Amino acid sequence: MVVGPFGPATRRREFLSDPGAPLVREHTDRSDLARHFAAFARSAEHDGSPVYEQICRGAATDPELLALTELAPPDQRRPNILLAAVHFLLLDGAEHPLAAHYDTVLDWRRVSGAPPPAKAGGGVFSNFADFCRHYRAEVAELVATRATQTNEVGRCAALRPAFATVAAEHRQPLGLIDLGASAGLNLLFDHYAYDYGGLRRIGPPDSPVVLACELREDTVPPLGFPEVVHRAGIDRHPVDPHNEDGSLWLLACQWPGHLGRFHRMRDALAIARNVSDRPPVETGDIIEDLARIAAFVPDSAHLCVYHSWVAAYLSPGRQYELGQAITALAADRAVSWVFAESPYETPGLPSPPAPKTIKGATALVLVDLDAGSRRERRLADMHPHGVWMHWWGGG
Ligand SMILES: C[S@@+](CC[C@H](N)C(=O)[O-])C[C@H]1O[C@@H](n2cnc3c(N)ncnc32)[C@H](O)[C@@H]1O
Repeated sequence: MVVGPFGPATRRREFLSDPGAPLVREHTDRSDLARHFAAFARSAEHDGSPVYEQICRGAATDPELLALTELAPPDQRRPNILLAAVHFLLLDGAEHPLAAHYDTVLDWRRVSGAPPPAKAGGGVFSNFADFCRHYRAEVAELVATRATQTNEVGRCAALRPAFATVAAEHRQPLGLIDLGASAGLNLLFDHYAYDYGGLRRIGPPDSPVVLACELREDTVPPLGFPEVVHRAGIDRHPVDPHNEDGSLWLLACQWPGHLGRFHRMRDALAIARNVSDRPPVETGDIIEDLARIAAFVPDSAHLCVYHSWVAAYLSPGRQYELGQAITALAADRAVSWVFAESPYETPGLPSPPAPKTIKGATALVLVDLDAGSRRERRLADMHPHGVWMHWWGGG
């Protein structure tokens, strides 16, 4: 039985390795996929994941690995799905020398008390390619049936002060709805500690999750925690933190080399499992099901709807419809709409310009809606995972 850091596993994955016929299948966008792997290698090199850099550099010219990735549904046909599938199997106990190259897997096995993997002979890429041949059936099944998914609690470093701003301005406790909530980890923002540098450390001092965020302007975001009386999320594929398979998949979507983020997600999932009144994350569509779920927010609360790195996955037309759906809520009550999204990937959202251009930043925007009135503010520009933030306050 596998004993993972989530506790004893309730099921044991049967490894069905069958090195039968090669999975090479012709596909018209093979060269696109090869380019994606080459580009991913460059970004992994830049972002501190030498393991993924080497794997993706090799995969870009490997017909078998490209064919394996092509088994994914069209919207998932990216390096991430193959990388996550292999990472998942390694975390789940697959035995192979490749495991020794992944700091995340070594750490996971150490915490579990599992024996360390055999020392890796050969390079990362040759081990990766060999793993995919050996566990081809398992990798293919995951690639064909899963979608890469994240839940980045680091974004709470910016969401928390946005919520504090909304609560202070409306002088009411909040009713929060997280659109695209994933495992609902960002709804638990007040269970994490925050370190904004200097003496600006706030939140539960014993929280295992400490979100360090470098402030890059003289302005300091509000340091308080708003009162929240209602919390709910919506996601197409909610992840139940109690579900071992779903939680392991979220972790598998992280990168080796990013051990700090891996630990943070592991610890945030543990917090979510132990919270007695964990907010529900409903299965649904953030546009079609919003009004139904918002109707449960009590009148005593100020409705605050938010999303982070979700609209980027919608077409500009759907992004506009999302704004319309949120605006429609304001026919009945005042609504604050907070989002943390890449402005380049969300042309359908209202993003007021920043006081200065911050390359690669995620925009933190607050839109206040009340009957016919509307006020849009750029509260901050932030690193996509909340590593740093330019807090503008929106004046
Ligand atoms: C990149 S993740 C971000 C998750 C979380 N907001 C965060 O900041 O970590 C995007 C999430 O949005 C969900 N999602 C994307 N489009 C959706 C839709 N139309 N309706 C519901 N959920 C959606 C996905 O299932 C996924 O969990």
